[in-house]
Amino acid sequence: MDILPQIEVLIEAEAISTRVHELAQEIAKQMNEDIMIVALLRGSFVFTADLIRALHFVGVRPQVDFMTLSSYGNGTESSGEVSIIRDVSEDMTGRRVLIVDDILESGRTLTFAKNLMLKRGAVDIKIAVMLEKPNKRKEEIEADFVGFTIPDKFVVGYGLDYANYYRELPFIGAVTL
Ligand code: IMP
Ligand code: MG
Repeated sequence: MDILPQIEVLIEAEAISTRVHELAQEIAKQMNEDIMIVALLRGSFVFTADLIRALHFVGVRPQVDFMTLSSYGNGTESSGEVSIIRDVSEDMTGRRVLIVDDILESGRTLTFAKNLMLKRGAVDIKIAVMLEKPNKRKEEIEADFVGFTIPDKFVVGYGLDYANYYRELPFIGAVTL
């Protein structure tokens, strides 16, 4: 019997790993070696962990901080409002910041995060996301580095959750409930 009959694999673990190393090379080309990574929790923790180690191999030496933002609640539809659950600890003044998130959908989360970093004095702010769903944007924002563009399905795994489950899946899958 299938352990996860309700999940359809969209992107295998191996393909994710290959793409993360490519992203690290793109980032190394376009950004300074001295950057501050701001990872948006909770969804981006797996991607961030892989990305920073891939960055090591291309000569980028990031500092890493975390911020927990919330717009989703427990469902599969964005509520539209973004709030800070836990803020960063580091001073962002004058820092070149790479904001890392799991997925760009409406763009509300990343617009909020980018504006906040701007307000705090960060410079050369860029955005890296593992996934992007096109045609869902409510804000005019694009990521500078995108792992995969995926169909408009609710996805889980590689850090992404459904009601805080499935983050541990090493692949990215669509929920077929
Ligand atoms: P946005 O603010 O609408 O762009 O949504 C971004 C946030 O919503 C991401 O950081 C995710 O946490 C969450 N999200 C959006 N789509 C999905 C999905 O398909 N699966 C799991 N979480 C998602
Ligand atoms: Mg999230």
